[in-house]
Amino acid sequence: MHCKMRLLVSALYLISCLHFGQANITDGNNNDNGNGNILPVVLWHGMGDTCCFPFSLGSIKKLIEEHTNGTYVRSLEIGANIVLDYESGFFIHPNKQVDYVCQQLARDEKLANGYNAIGFSQGGQFLRALAQRCPTPPMRVLISLGGQHQGVYGVPKCPTLSVSSCEYITRLLNYAAYDEWVQNGLVQATYWHDPLHENSYRLKSSFLADINNELYINERYAENLNKLKRFVMVKFLNDTIVQPKESQWFEFYAPGQDKHILPLSESKVYKNIGLDEMKQRGKLQFLSVEGDHLAISKEWFIKELVPLLLELA
Ligand SMILES: *[C@@H]1O[C@H](CO)[C@@H](O)[C@H](O)[C@H]1NC(C)=O
Ligand SMILES: *[C@@H]1O[C@H](CO)[C@@H](O)[C@H](O)[C@H]1NC(C)=O
Ligand SMILES: *[C@@H]1O[C@H](CO)[C@@H](O)[C@H](O)[C@H]1NC(C)=O
Repeated sequence: MHCKMRLLVSALYLISCLHFGQANITDGNNNDNGNGNILPVVLWHGMGDTCCFPFSLGSIKKLIEEHTNGTYVRSLEIGANIVLDYESGFFIHPNKQVDYVCQQLARDEKLANGYNAIGFSQGGQFLRALAQRCPTPPMRVLISLGGQHQGVYGVPKCPTLSVSSCEYITRLLNYAAYDEWVQNGLVQATYWHDPLHENSYRLKSSFLADINNELYINERYAENLNKLKRFVMVKFLNDTIVQPKESQWFEFYAPGQDKHILPLSESKVYKNIGLDEMKQRGKLQFLSVEGDHLAISKEWFIKELVPLLLELA
């Protein structure tokens, strides 16, 4: 048990050093004006971030307000204060977080007619889970920035650790991720996807395997996801954090190995959660941007994402 605790602590230390999910928006200048019937926007932060850090989601909230004629932007705080919110990204099981957010949004009158949503890093897959499990109030456009829709396998970059410690911890995480206590205690384990042990993943992943209909098919998930007007996935081309990068576009390694990526249309999840139907109806949109994980420029945000938020309900 001691050994396990040490592992968890080291893994957390490692992960928190990565600033895995902090959005880093850089300056630029542009102008745009929204008008008319613009939907509110809900933001879900990444791991190691919070609803409201001024250099991260705080500035993005402002940016959206500026370019959407002051539409209502709600940056989700998970828990009663900012410390809990920060910790939630590591310790509060995604299923609990999604339930919590579902209840919070239901009470928010400003969202009653629907909202658009932007998820940062793991916030991307959490918002997708919300769309699938919690159709009221209705989510219209979902934008996932660097989300890991088929999970992650590997911790490729450990800035403060030697390569060998990094590999060692990755091996340990790899070994213990599907232990129940790790699934319950560490958010990142719930979307750890080991392509060499697909069966363990399907049986033991307590979050991702469920929302991706891996173990059994929950038809409601596909139905609800198809209620979206648009599902936009943004991939960071030079991402050094998400492994494989392709998970940001819902792709993953072909089962049994960790080199070759299976095209989305050939993976089971494509049909199992109704992405095929969404594709046919022109609802899927794949965007890519040069740069590392969540390194977004204001100009890019305004040019590529703001118009999606201005589409009428
Ligand atoms: C954001 O990124 C820039 C350049 O990539 C870097 O210089 C800066 O320190 C980063 N800021 C934060 C808060 O991480
Ligand atoms: C901005 O919103 C206000 C209040 O909803 C509205 O009266 C105004 O016409 C809007 N401005 C533009 C440019 O759409
Ligand atoms: C980022 O990745 C793209 C695609 O692989 C590549 O063409 C580009 O040169 C890379 N940019 C940097 C700054 O490394």
